[in-house]
Amino acid sequence: MLKTLDELEKEAILELPGATSEDALNELRTRYLGRKGLLTQMLRQISTVTAAEKPLFGKRSNEIKESLAHAIDDALEMLKASRKDQVLLKETIDVTLPGRGVRLGRLHPVTRVSQEICRIFSRMGFNVVEGPEVETDYYNFEALNIPKDHPARDMQDTFYVEDNIVLRTHTSPVQIRTMEKMKPPVRILSPGRVYRPDSDVSHTPMFHQVEGLMVDKGITFGDLKGTLTYFLRQIFGADILLRFRPSFFPFTEPSAEVDLRCVMCTGKGCRVCGQSGWLEILGSGMVDPAVFENVGYDPEEVTGFAFGLGVERIAMLKYGISDIRLFFENDGRFLEQF
Ligand code: DAH
Repeated sequence: MLKTLDELEKEAILELPGATSEDALNELRTRYLGRKGLLTQMLRQISTVTAAEKPLFGKRSNEIKESLAHAIDDALEMLKASRKDQVLLKETIDVTLPGRGVRLGRLHPVTRVSQEICRIFSRMGFNVVEGPEVETDYYNFEALNIPKDHPARDMQDTFYVEDNIVLRTHTSPVQIRTMEKMKPPVRILSPGRVYRPDSDVSHTPMFHQVEGLMVDKGITFGDLKGTLTYFLRQIFGADILLRFRPSFFPFTEPSAEVDLRCVMCTGKGCRVCGQSGWLEILGSGMVDPAVFENVGYDPEEVTGFAFGLGVERIAMLKYGISDIRLFFENDGRFLEQF
């Protein structure tokens, strides 16, 4: 009887390596150790064993039961471990690979320059205000003392929406809207889009301007010069050379255009400055008394200066860009440089 027990053990041990799946191992366990299993059946035959053999038979069958159960448990354990290894192997990540960068957006160069201009004037106490891009004839021309027969009012120079409604041709109407709403002192800056039917390397039908206005008792042309000189030094550097050249605008008297010694050729004369050595950078002047009267200010009591500049022009000179149309083509290779 003991011999058959040994044989049973040997058989089971031989079968074990063949059971390579969880199901096969469980089946093996049931077949040998289950309630109707081979070992159990053999134990039931203990009554046929001689009294002398009984203790040994009991002991051996318990040993076999235990070692077989252990062997099956171990095999199951190993199976689970190797499955885990396979999963880990499949899900490996190579931490030494270079990362995939997230492409960040950035501010458009026109936005950047416009914000820089606003920051410089904010430090001097100017408040940023905005106005409508679709404007009435009154605010865009009439209140700014631009006469009915002025060439700027021509259909060729202005986009008309209706008879008396235009796409604003400059940011100057914001001066009027502001002064109508508040009493002096006034110190405002107004950035925004403006429109003119024009298109070549230095003109686009839509472009950006910044308008400035300062009104108070006793404002002089010296304040205008000091403010604009400080501003242009902040933008282009402390060593620039400026020229205030007499000019004419219907809404200022006297008027001056501010020229900058050409930043490309430092005055020797080049294509950018048209061989003159100077670049026109902005228009300015002392607010015309007629404009003050239109908004109900007393020109005997207050004075002020105003100026207007093109943002794209400043950006082109600052970054050395030769064609204004590049700003609006939305070519990522161009825009990513800023
Ligand atoms: N509005 C003018 C233009 O579009 C620019 C300008 C010139 C604005 C002189 C001003 C100024 O406020 O005083 O060309």
